[in-house]
Amino acid sequence: MTQRVLTTESGAPVADNQNSATAGVGGPILLQDQHLLEKLARFNRERIPERVVHARGSGAYGYFEVTDDVTGFTKADFLGEVGKRTETFIRFSTVADSLGGADAVRDPRGFALKFYTEEGNYDLVGNNTPVFFIKDPVKFPDFIHSQKRDPFTGKQEPDNVWDFWAHAPEATHQVTWLMGDRGIPASYRHMNGYGSHTYQWTNAAGEAFFVKYHFKTNQGVRSLSSEQAAELAGKDGNSHQTDLLQAIERGVNPSWTLYVQVMPAAEAAEYRFNPFDLTKVWPHSDYPLQRVGRLVLDRNPDNVFAEVEQAAFSPNNFVPGIGPSPDKMLQGRLFAYADAHRYRLGVNHTQLAVNAPKATVADNYGRDGLMATRNGRRADKNYEPNSYAGPAQTDAALSAPLAVQGWTGTHEAPAHVKDDDFFQAGELYRLMSDEEKSRLIANIAGGLSQVNRDDVIEKNLAHFHAADADYGKRVEEAVRALRED
Ligand code: HEM
Repeated sequence: MTQRVLTTESGAPVADNQNSATAGVGGPILLQDQHLLEKLARFNRERIPERVVHARGSGAYGYFEVTDDVTGFTKADFLGEVGKRTETFIRFSTVADSLGGADAVRDPRGFALKFYTEEGNYDLVGNNTPVFFIKDPVKFPDFIHSQKRDPFTGKQEPDNVWDFWAHAPEATHQVTWLMGDRGIPASYRHMNGYGSHTYQWTNAAGEAFFVKYHFKTNQGVRSLSSEQAAELAGKDGNSHQTDLLQAIERGVNPSWTLYVQVMPAAEAAEYRFNPFDLTKVWPHSDYPLQRVGRLVLDRNPDNVFAEVEQAAFSPNNFVPGIGPSPDKMLQGRLFAYADAHRYRLGVNHTQLAVNAPKATVADNYGRDGLMATRNGRRADKNYEPNSYAGPAQTDAALSAPLAVQGWTGTHEAPAHVKDDDFFQAGELYRLMSDEEKSRLIANIAGGLSQVNRDDVIEKNLAHFHAADADYGKRVEEAVRALRED
């Protein structure tokens, strides 16, 4: 085997990678040692800003295969034919901790999926939970501040976590979910994924439907108890990464079956609660799950930094036939992600291999910027319209229009018959077995009892009481018992 030559970034051979150049033996280092200067300077620039949330994650490539006909609901080309396969990239993540945090923690998990379709990249940036803590994006920075490290103590504080929830009754459903058995998945392979928001599908005839996505794991849902997780996190902080990497390296390719719930658009206004409220699920009895296809992961990235850390998913990357609903949280997210990417990765992040379209090419008049590698072909004009056969609009509607009414203003969502923040938390509680309920109560009480202020504890207890009388009573008793200890 021929020996590869070590070079500088400009490709020149390096003579010595063990000794810096000095003025005489034992003398100071020379400024002319280009290899040393370049090596140190480059090293200083290896880190980029981590994601402000979901900093810690793992990625994998795979494919999505359509198994059932959904052309009655969407004209999206990649869903247009049974058997059609589309390459995908997924990034799983935890939410609250920084890049170095442990995997086995109680936290929602991100489930961000990129479909490299022939009509452009479609990003579905979901979680392993069907609901979320809040329903208006203006609350998101406050919510995240309360869950991440405190600026003074430098660690997550139960006081902040529960103080936010005390002021957010709409979080009760998701808190019940998070503190229950599914709050700590055994691995990324053993959890479901949800689009969580309501999205809009439009079919070829221009008819609109509202949909919710459910990816059911074919590995079975498996979770860890708080005690198991604490032990595992201490032994192997990278337990989810290890599991995913090794499974795919062994050829044990994880898969998920995608189902959707479909609501004809005309039913939304009269539904008994706001169908665009991210803190609520649609009962399957109203809108049953309909199978769409399966997602298979079969290839690990070659380089974690290049492909996972630099991966950029944005909920506003849609393809024709799929679009946003009026869900306010989703609307806020349509702005937030690409903005984060421009800050974190730069304006040309879409040109990185993991983010660029694979089954088509991006062809537009965007030019230049830091680190540009794609700038149009030689004689291409950089303005539009032009007389030189440059790319032009299609005039084909991407998705059906959404009806709006009324005046601008900082409104609450439109009222529906049953909009209260607690009934679905109560329903989730009543679905649990006695053992599940006991673990849920112990997890909530373990956190809530550490809160210093009584008024914050009382406000949280009131939410559990409002969800279900037995739920409230048991949490209250457990918290009081721990506080008296
Ligand atoms: C990551 C904002 C709600 C799932 C992020 C990032 C931002 C953000 C700025 C970092 C993006 C990056 O640097 O690449 C927001 C805002 C929200 C919101 C403003 C509410 C208004 C949600 C919800 C979900 C979600 C409801 C799930 C249903 C994710 C996931 C990631 C992420 C999975 C990680 C994506 C990746 O792996 O690169 N979010 N988020 N977020 N968010 Fe959100």
